[in-house]
Formats: sequence, C-alpha cells, structure tokens
Amino acid sequence: MTIHFIGAGPGAPDLITLRGRDLIASSPVCLYAGSLVPQALLAHCPPGAKIINTAPLSLDEIIAELAAAHAAGQDVARLHSGDLSVWSAMGEQLRRLRALNIPYDVTPGVPSFAAAAAALATELTLPGLTQSVVLTRTSGRATAMPDRENLPAFAATGATLAIHLSVHVLEKVVADLTPHYGPDCPVAVVWRATWPDERIVRATLATLQTAIGAEMERTALILVGPALAAEGFEESRLYAGDYDRRFRPVGTEPRFPDAK
Ligand SMILES: C[S@@+](CC[C@H](N)C(=O)[O-])C[C@H]1O[C@@H](n2cnc3c(N)ncnc32)[C@H](O)[C@@H]1O
Repeated sequence: MTIHFIGAGPGAPDLITLRGRDLIASSPVCLYAGSLVPQALLAHCPPGAKIINTAPLSLDEIIAELAAAHAAGQDVARLHSGDLSVWSAMGEQLRRLRALNIPYDVTPGVPSFAAAAAALATELTLPGLTQSVVLTRTSGRATAMPDRENLPAFAATGATLAIHLSVHVLEKVVADLTPHYGPDCPVAVVWRATWPDERIVRATLATLQTAIGAEMERTALILVGPALAAEGFEESRLYAGDYDRRFRPVGTEPRFPDAK
C-alpha cells in the first residue's frame, strides 16, 4: 500500500490531473485539507471510502490515520490544495512516514499562482522585461519568514512577485514594494481563482488599497511587477522567422553558431 500525496489544484474540481483523480478513485481512504480542497473532488472516492477532513487534526492525529491505513493494507489519497511543493505541510508528513517506513508517492497539482495568472490571461515572464517569478509570502502566526527572505530584497530584483498568504497585510506589502517598483507598477489581486466566486482587482501600487475597499476574504494571491500590464515588451526569439532552431532549420551554416 502507498500514501498518495495529490495536488488537488486551486479550486475548480476539474483542475486536478487525471492521475490524481484516478488515485482518489482507487484509494479506500481519503484525507483532505478541508479549507481549500473542493468537496466535489471527494465524489471520485470509491463507494464506502473512509473520508477524513484533516483541518481540525494535529500532525500526530494525521500520521496516526495514515499509519492505521498502512497497517490495514489500504492505499490513501492525501489531498492538499494547489501543488504540494509550496506551503502544503507535506514535508513534515513525508519525514514522519520515512521514519515509520511507510511508502508514499507525490502527484503534482495546479498551483494557485498559475491559476491566478490564467485568470488574468497574463504571462508572468516577458522578454526584455522580466524572466523570473518569485513565489513568496509574508510572516504568519504559524510560520516566520527567514530574515533574508523579505519583500524589499525580492523587489530589488524587479522580478514578478506572486505573494501568497498576505492579502490581510496589504498596506505593508505596498509600503515595502513601492520604493523598488514605483507607485505606477501594475498589481493584480485574485481571490479564490477558479472558484465560482473568483474576484479580480487590477490596479497600481498607488491605487490598490482604494480599488480593493473592504474585501476581507483571505484566499487571495497578490501579483506584482511590470509584466502584469505590459504591451511594449520584445517578442521572443524562439518564434522569430530568422532564428535557427533544431525543429525549424533556416539554413544557417554552421548550425547553432552561438551554442557553447
Ligand atoms: C497554504 S497556501 C497553499 C498554496 C498551494 N499549495 C498552492 O500551490 O498554491 C494558501 C495560500 O495560497 C493562495 N491560494 C490558494 N488557493 C488560491 C486560489 N484559488 N486563489 C487565490 N489564491 C489562492 C492564497 O495566497 C492562500 O492564502
């Protein structure tokens, strides 16, 4: 038996991978992180499956459920929102499972930053403008940020920032970023991307707080950087007519003269 960690995606129930869906359907036990995993995904569980919302459980209690399923020879579908590689608390569960010699595997999911970018129909990396995306957050009650990972340090790079878990400290986010990006830098906040009540506000750092008003819902992503509203960026060389590619040779000799 195996504990299958599965990225459940950002909210819309059809934004799970086929592999993730099939693993849910073949696992007699399902543990899901209740607050953000869509209930509709539980419809894929087989009839009679044991389904547990882990929102009110401690880590010890979660591991006890996983160990009990292992002892009974049952596969488990372990669902977390978005993708598991960021802010999923998967790392501590895997470490406990390794200590207990319980096998596991991991199936990726659509992360919320990608869902928010899709909602905005925006490419976060534009040629000549920015080629990096920083996935970050601000300190929370449960998790402090390491000293060197602070918003001004990331902002100094000029990259596109995808700031999670931070819409409740928007004033401080804006204050930290404005000296680096300038007040006219475009910003978008996407609440509950892909859920039926998704909401989008586009603004600049200077106008963001007025544009948002009294919105209190915390499941939101803040995206900041020039790529959010750019029209004057360069076209990529990848599709340029004179660019010699392995799959689209244009007859230059020698091929790939710049390749090292
Ligand atoms: C505990 S983290 C989970 C991140 C998740 N593992 C991922 O891949 O995006 C929760 C934070 O992710 C962001 N988030 C998750 N789902 C979202 C959604 N549907 N729309 C906007 N932001 C979302 C919010 O910033 C939220 O506070």
